[in-house]
Amino acid sequence: MSNREPRGTASDAGEATRPGQPKHSASRRRFMKTVGMSSIAAATSGAGIGQAFADDGQAPAATGDAPAAGKTRVKFKINGQMKQIDVAPNVILLDAIRDELQLTGTKKGCDHGQCGACNVHVNGTVINSCLSLAVMHDGDEITTVEGLSENGELHPIQQAFLDEDAYQCGYCTAGQMMTATYVLNSSHIGDSDDAVREAMSGNICRCGAYKNILAAVQSTRGKV
Ligand code: FES
Ligand code: FES
Repeated sequence: MSNREPRGTASDAGEATRPGQPKHSASRRRFMKTVGMSSIAAATSGAGIGQAFADDGQAPAATGDAPAAGKTRVKFKINGQMKQIDVAPNVILLDAIRDELQLTGTKKGCDHGQCGACNVHVNGTVINSCLSLAVMHDGDEITTVEGLSENGELHPIQQAFLDEDAYQCGYCTAGQMMTATYVLNSSHIGDSDDAVREAMSGNICRCGAYKNILAAVQSTRGKV
C-alpha cells in the first residue's frame, strides 16, 4: 500500500480515509458539496465571489456585532492566536489566510489542489487550503508557515532548508515545509527516501530542488 499521505491534501478533520491513503476524494466530495451549498447561499444573499475581500467597500455593512449580510462569522485558532473573520461562504481558506489575516507566507500556486504551495496544517493534518472553504474551519486549529518558528528561532525544518539549499525561487517552500513537518511527525509514513518522496509527491517544485528538499527533510528527522 502506498503511504502517499499528504499529496498536499489530507482531509479536513473528520473525513474517514484509510491510513496512508490520499484523502483527495473525500476532501473533494466535501468541498464540492459545500461549494454547492455556498453557491446557493451566495446567490440568495446577493454575495458574489470575492466580495468578502473587495477593496471598493461595496459589501453591506455589519449591523451591530453581527456579520454583514451574506457573510458568515468564523472563529479559529491560527498560529496560536484566536482570530475571528467574517467571510462570504464561497471564500477559500487560502484567501482568508492571505487576504483577511495577511499571512502571506502561504502561497497560491495552481489554486486547484495540485501543487501543494498552499498547504497548511489543520488540526494536526495537512491540507490544501485552496480546496477548503473558510467557513468549514470554525473552531479549528490552523498552523501556517509563519507559525513554525518559536521565540524567534527557526523551526528545524526551516533551518534545514537553509542548510541544504533546498529552494531556488522559494515559491513552493512554505508548502513543502508544511508537508515536511507533517511527514516527520507521522508515525505511519516510513523514513526511507522513497517513503518521503512519495509522501511529498503532492508538493511540486518547478525549480527541481527535490534532491535538496529530500536532504532537508531527512536531516531534520529526530529534531521535531
Ligand atoms: S494546491 Fe493549492 S495552490 Fe496549488
Ligand atoms: S523552489 Fe522554486 S518552485 Fe520550489
